[in-house]
Amino acid sequence: MPKKKWWKESVVYQIYPRSFKDSNGDGTGDLQGIISKLDYLKYLGISVLWISPVYHSPNVDNGYDISDYRGIMTEMGTMADWEALRDGLHSRGMKLVMDLVVNHTSDQHRWFQESRLSKDNPYRDYYIWRPGKEGKEPNNWSSEFSGSAWEYDALTEEYYLHVFSKNQPDLNWDNKTVRYEIYDMMKWWLDKGVDGFRMDVINMIAKDPELPDAPPVNSSPYQWGGEFFINGPRLRYYLREMHTKVLCKYDLMTVGETRWVDADMARFFVDEYRHELNMLFHFELLELDYGPDGKWDKKAWELADFKRIISNWQTKLAESGWNSHFLSNHDHPRMVSRFGNDTTYRVESAKMLATLLHTLQGTPYIYQGDEIGMTNVRFPSIEHYRDIETLNMYEEGLKNSKDPQELREIIYEKGRDNARTPMQWDDSPHAGFTDGTPWINVNSNYQEINVEQAQQDPSSILHYYRKLIELRRQYPLFVYGDYKLLLPKHTQIYSYLRRWEENAETLLVILNFFEESTTFILPERVTFQTGRLLIANYPDTNPVIEMADLKDFTLRPYEACVYLLD
Ligand code: GLC
Ligand code: CA
Repeated sequence: MPKKKWWKESVVYQIYPRSFKDSNGDGTGDLQGIISKLDYLKYLGISVLWISPVYHSPNVDNGYDISDYRGIMTEMGTMADWEALRDGLHSRGMKLVMDLVVNHTSDQHRWFQESRLSKDNPYRDYYIWRPGKEGKEPNNWSSEFSGSAWEYDALTEEYYLHVFSKNQPDLNWDNKTVRYEIYDMMKWWLDKGVDGFRMDVINMIAKDPELPDAPPVNSSPYQWGGEFFINGPRLRYYLREMHTKVLCKYDLMTVGETRWVDADMARFFVDEYRHELNMLFHFELLELDYGPDGKWDKKAWELADFKRIISNWQTKLAESGWNSHFLSNHDHPRMVSRFGNDTTYRVESAKMLATLLHTLQGTPYIYQGDEIGMTNVRFPSIEHYRDIETLNMYEEGLKNSKDPQELREIIYEKGRDNARTPMQWDDSPHAGFTDGTPWINVNSNYQEINVEQAQQDPSSILHYYRKLIELRRQYPLFVYGDYKLLLPKHTQIYSYLRRWEENAETLLVILNFFEESTTFILPERVTFQTGRLLIANYPDTNPVIEMADLKDFTLRPYEACVYLLD
């Protein structure tokens, strides 16, 4: 039986502040914009708000390059605005989770500015500097954002490591002073009333001190060296130290962003007896459509893998630890475009996917706009794109004589800007996001897809989310019940039972993941008297069923239904 905790019972909503709501007409979303929408979040029913970084930043990577951890980015507002946001949330019974980006800083951070000045500067060792090897980079690692992971600095004739852009130098976690600076900063925010942290690329902080070359896998001079900086041996020690120095002193929620972590490894991070993190964002689902060459290489995903991965996490973390569920965020395409159908069955498939996220054991995360079924965007030319990862890939592709049209097609499908177009509030110009010129264009479908429309339409995706969130509040079974996969081999249906011993309730979830109709046949071993419908994405689903009804049960395109059995 999982232990009860507030963050297990929560539904988390993620805001990408630049794209949520602009309050002063400069085209960039800001804190006052968020404050003006707190009643909307309350109406939606969420209990925790996670905001992507709002700290001082030159915005090379939209705030994930921090130049001052204790100040608010001028474009976002002031510390007084941040305090008003905190109080506005707390007075409405919601909590605030901040992004913690401590694998790297901005190159404009005072620490880095000092660090680069001389080899004996007291801040030199805050970052990872190395001399070149025979006039080349210290090793062959590639940056997540294309090119080498090393940048040469002529001032001291050495290279520094940057796993992300060259303006995001990696901090040296082997330096105790760096770690203690970070712990102090975390305590400072927690003392200001922050309720938790989402920890950016937290399993990349511990580099292999030898910094060895990555074995070559393709013809590029630079090779992704993940095996030497993801889940490094000292990661364990650093996370435990962070727990002892900071986390154990507060009742907070922590969720680590961890690429290359499977359900077996996850237990080392989130096992309740290890005292490290509460939850992880793993990448197993979101990398199902990555080809052998990674993100920009397309591959079709299959439901069989989906079911296998989720079931594995559900089972492995059932006793100790906790799952988080999300299918999109600011780094990925829109979930309805990626795993559903964003044309004919946009509404049905968005609701079906939402049903999955809210009926598994774990904490669901909603990314802004998914609750109204926002879709991917197709900007007519590369000038409209803003994301550094996308732009770097495009530039490198052109250098390697790739076809620009082909590059654009893959950007349409995979680019991060798909999720970063402004939140669509209403059908007025720029979707009610700003009175000025938005920093990135609004998706042209905002006249049909927007919050105002969704609020007025009782059958909207938005109302469906509200109902799911309400059900989770009403039935602890949704949160704590155990999980049993049904029809593991079915290629089109995802179905499972959730059971909670405490009050002998059982939930039956049936999801058709595709646009073809199909038939659900209840396995022999599942028996019950009557089933009462709690939620469904078609208006005329049978409100009460008996076992016989499920022996030959037709599912329409993307149909989802959830029954409470007794
Ligand atoms: C994480 C963030 C992403 C950012 C990167 C570097 O993956 O989610 O947006 O670019 O880390 O901080
Ligand atoms: Ca603004």
